[in-house]
Amino acid sequence: MPSLEISDLKALAKRRVPKMFFDYADSGAWTEGTYRANEADYHKIKLRQRVLVDMTNRSLASTMIGQKVSMPVALSPTGLTGMQHADGEMLAAQAAEEFGVPFTLSTMSICSIEDVASVTTKPFWFQLYVMKDRDFVRNLIERAKAAKCSALVLTLDLQILGQRHKDLRNGLSAPPKFTPKHIWQMATRPGWCLKMMKTQRRGFGNIVGHAKNVSDLSSLSAWTAEQFDPKLSWDDVAWIKQLWGGPLILKGILDPEDARMAAKTGADAIIVSNHGGRQLDGAASSISMLPRIVDAVGGDIEIHIDGGIRSGQDILKAVALGARGTYIGRPFLYGLGASGKTGVRLALDILRKELDITMALCGKRDILDVDRDILDSDAGQLPR
Ligand code: GLV
Repeated sequence: MPSLEISDLKALAKRRVPKMFFDYADSGAWTEGTYRANEADYHKIKLRQRVLVDMTNRSLASTMIGQKVSMPVALSPTGLTGMQHADGEMLAAQAAEEFGVPFTLSTMSICSIEDVASVTTKPFWFQLYVMKDRDFVRNLIERAKAAKCSALVLTLDLQILGQRHKDLRNGLSAPPKFTPKHIWQMATRPGWCLKMMKTQRRGFGNIVGHAKNVSDLSSLSAWTAEQFDPKLSWDDVAWIKQLWGGPLILKGILDPEDARMAAKTGADAIIVSNHGGRQLDGAASSISMLPRIVDAVGGDIEIHIDGGIRSGQDILKAVALGARGTYIGRPFLYGLGASGKTGVRLALDILRKELDITMALCGKRDILDVDRDILDSDAGQLPR
């Protein structure tokens, strides 16, 4: 059966990836209400069907922070990507490069900055978490510079980790533990195990051997509780901006007030985000907040969005509401879990096709001409 939509890739990934890692991707904090709302709110937005408009020569090409993209989509920074598939970050970065969209490497990745740089030819983006150990932060920034990363994505919404019940119940860790439950989860996924046995990359590649005084690196929750800086402030953003000196994207803005503060920092873009529903459960969906943030700072800073995007239609709706760029996390992770690099390519191909056909049927030929006009303001509940 061919995979025609992202949910097909999700079903395949569920069969191929050990439960603890599949669940890590497919989870939100506490009740997962915000995680669900991120997706559901896209469905409330209705499109205007237009006819007899010339649909030849369509273009999805755009820019994000001035960098060319073949469609306005980047791969989100996602933790433990190399546990969805052996060497996952390297494969996803290659797929993104071939496709012409940015790949963002997470601080909490399995493959390191240097690993990803060694298999790519174009610059990728690096996402930074700020640790209490400022020497380590400086060192990460230096490594990202040495790897010629072309943007730093600074995450603002994870000073402490939201509780994801599935991870605690599964006893998630990287490398995985060898308890009977974990052995069973892996033994029932032999393809995953075989590939994982062929790679050495099974721990947090950016951190192991680089950070000092790390007592428990295997558990994400223990590591974040011990190492992440809960005092992170706007002054630190200024410090990081100056240290990095290149294009800076601030990730995790969900409130117009914070958006105004972010715009004042002189960063190049913000990402409207609730961390895929993984942090503050009960927060509004990203897409429902986008119009208010565009109203507040649309003229001052470039606006991107993540959370809940599962189709090309969702991408188009976000662009119509004012996002210059969008990010996909789970859709590419499902592709990766389903079939490695080919699966990531397939996820991107699926999204591109959906985006292209939807744009055409809305009567537009160029993604750069898409605006609120393609949305039906009477049908459904258009976010205010
Ligand atoms: C880390 O960024 C996570 O959401 O697990």
